[in-house]
Amino acid sequence: MCGIVGYIGNRDSKEVLIEGLKKLEYRGYDSAGIAVFTDNGLEIRKSKGRLAMLEDKLKNEPIAGSVGIGHTRWATHGKPSDVNSHPHTDNSSKFSVVHNGIVENYLDLKEELSAKGHIFVSETDTEVISHLIADEYHGDIVTAVQRAVKRMRGAYALGVLTEYEPTKLVAVRFASPLVIGIGENENFIGSDIPAILEYTRNVYILNDGEMAVLTRSGVELMTTNGDIISKEIFHVDWDLVTAEKAGFEHFMLKEIHEQPKAYRDTMMGRISEDGKSVVLKEIGMSNEQLRGISRIHIVACGTAFHAGLVGKTVIESLARIPVETDVASEYRYRSPIITPDTLVIVVSQSGETADTLAALREAKRNGARVLAITNVVGSSVAREADDVITTWAGPEIAVASTKAYTSQLIAFYLLGLYLAQERGMAQAQQVEEIVAAMHKLPEQVESILEQAELFKTVAEAMSKHDNLFFIGRGLDFAVAQEGSLKLKEISYIHSEAYAAGELKHGTLALIEDGIPVIALVTQEDLYEKTLSNIKEVKARGAHVLGIANAGYEGEVLKSVDEVFSIPRTLPLLTPALSVVPLQILSYHASLARGNDVDKPRNLAKSVTVE
Ligand code: AGP
Repeated sequence: MCGIVGYIGNRDSKEVLIEGLKKLEYRGYDSAGIAVFTDNGLEIRKSKGRLAMLEDKLKNEPIAGSVGIGHTRWATHGKPSDVNSHPHTDNSSKFSVVHNGIVENYLDLKEELSAKGHIFVSETDTEVISHLIADEYHGDIVTAVQRAVKRMRGAYALGVLTEYEPTKLVAVRFASPLVIGIGENENFIGSDIPAILEYTRNVYILNDGEMAVLTRSGVELMTTNGDIISKEIFHVDWDLVTAEKAGFEHFMLKEIHEQPKAYRDTMMGRISEDGKSVVLKEIGMSNEQLRGISRIHIVACGTAFHAGLVGKTVIESLARIPVETDVASEYRYRSPIITPDTLVIVVSQSGETADTLAALREAKRNGARVLAITNVVGSSVAREADDVITTWAGPEIAVASTKAYTSQLIAFYLLGLYLAQERGMAQAQQVEEIVAAMHKLPEQVESILEQAELFKTVAEAMSKHDNLFFIGRGLDFAVAQEGSLKLKEISYIHSEAYAAGELKHGTLALIEDGIPVIALVTQEDLYEKTLSNIKEVKARGAHVLGIANAGYEGEVLKSVDEVFSIPRTLPLLTPALSVVPLQILSYHASLARGNDVDKPRNLAKSVTVE
C-alpha cells in the first residue's frame, strides 16, 4: 500500500513527482524516493521518513531531468530504511522500478536470480522486479516488462524506466490501482487521480492485466499479452481544492465539517420529489431479483465494517432480510454459505482495500450478486461489483475516516428503504416519515458541529488516560465500536467498545477509579437498561460521559458525570448523529497528545495489501 507517480514531458520532473507524492502520502509515509533521467543517466534519491526528508535531501543533492518516477512507501517487506525505499534498481543501475503491491513469489524469484549472479541489497520484494526486468531485457523494455510480470504472482502497480530507452515510461497494473494522465506533450502515471490532477483532468484507468507505454507525445495501451487496446478517456470533473484543507487545520477536521454536505449529496437524486419513495437507478436488479434475495452478507474492513453493522440493523428492520456481517479479511476463509439468492454488499471508501476486493471476488466466484457501496468512482471495487451505490462524500484524505462512514450510513438507509419498498415491506407513509427525518440530518449535524468546542476540555482530560471504554446497546453499540476505533487510531489511547449489558460478564473487572467511560444512550427503547449498566460502572469509580438525545439529557445526567445531547431523530437514524461527537472527541484527544492527526503512526489510508 504505497503511492506511485511518474512523469514524461518537458517540465522539471522532480517538481511534478514531489507534488504528486504529497497528494499520495496518505497511502504510506515511511519513506519516499524518486528516479530521474539526468545528463549522467538514471539517478535515484531516496530517504527513510516523511516526504519532507526526501525534499531536504534533494536540496543537498539536486537532480534534474524531464522524465522520472516517484514513490511513497508503507513498509510490507523490510523495515522502513533508505535501502528498502523505492525506486529500486538492478545491479547495472540501468533499470528503475516503483511498485505498489506485494510479489508473493519474490523469494523463489530471488533465489533463481541470485543463482544467475544477481546481487540484492534490500529486503524488499520490489527489488526482485527490477532484477527480473533486467534479466528479461533483450533490447525492448515493453517485452521485458511483459515477460517479467508473467513470472510474478501477487499484486502490482509498476512504473518502470530504463536508461536504454529514455524516451519511454512503462506502467503496468495487476490488483493495485493505477491511472494514466494524458497531457499535451507530457503524460503521467499515478496511484490515484489527485496525484496528477494539477496537470490534467483526462485519464485512463487501467484494469488488471493492462499496461501503458508513455512517451512525451502519446500513450499506447495494451494488455500484458501484448494486444493493443483502446480505452475511453475518463474526464475528472472535481478539482484539487476539494482535496485540500480549505482553511481547516487538519483534513480530518475539514472532513468532519463536510458531513452535512456529504449527507445531502449522497441523498441527492435518490428520493422521489414527493418524498414517498427511494429511487436507486444504479441498482440493476429486477423487482423479481430483489424479491428473490434470501440473505445478505455485508463485508468490509475497519470503519466501513462498522457502517455495515448499522446497515445490518437497518436492512433487517426495514426489509426483514436476514443479514450477516463479516470483516473482509475473515470472510473467504470461513467458507461462507453463498447461494445464488445471496446478495453480498461490500463497503469500501477507497474501493481499493485488498481484503474487501478479495471478498468481492470470492462472492462472485460463488455466484452471488455483489453490490458495492464506495466513495471512489472507477475504483476496483466499483468496477468489479454488479451494482454500485456511490457515496458522494468527495475525496477523503485523513487516514481516520469520518465523512465516508456517515455517507455509508446514508447509503444503507437508502438501500434499506429501497429493498423494503421493492419487496412490498414498506408503506409509502413509512418511507415518507424516514425520508423526512433523513432530510433533517444535515442541519442536525451542523448544530452538533457548532458545539464542537465543548469537547476540547473533555478530550484533554481523556487524553491523560491510557485506557477507556465505550458502551452502548443496539445501534449505540455499533456506533461505540466506531468511536473506539477512531480514538485508538489517532490518539493511541487503548479503548474497547462493549455492548453495555455484556460488561458484567468479565470486562467490568477492568473498571477502576477514574477510568473514562463514554456511554451512548440514544436508543430510547433500551434507555433504562443502558442506564442500569452505566450505574454498574459508576459504582466502580468510572467517570462517565453520556451521549443522549435532546430532551433526555436531564434524566441521563442523574446517572453520569457529564452529558452531551444530540438532536432527536428516529432511532434507526441516530448513528448518523451520535458518531459526530465521538469523531470530534477523538480529534481533540489526538491533538492534545501532540499526534499527527491526519497521518497516524503505522497506518495508511488505503490498505491495498492483504
Ligand atoms: C478508518 O478510520 C480506518 N482508517 C480504516 O479502518 C478503514 O475504514 C479501512 O481500512 C477500510 O478502508 P476502505 O473503506 O477504503 O475499504
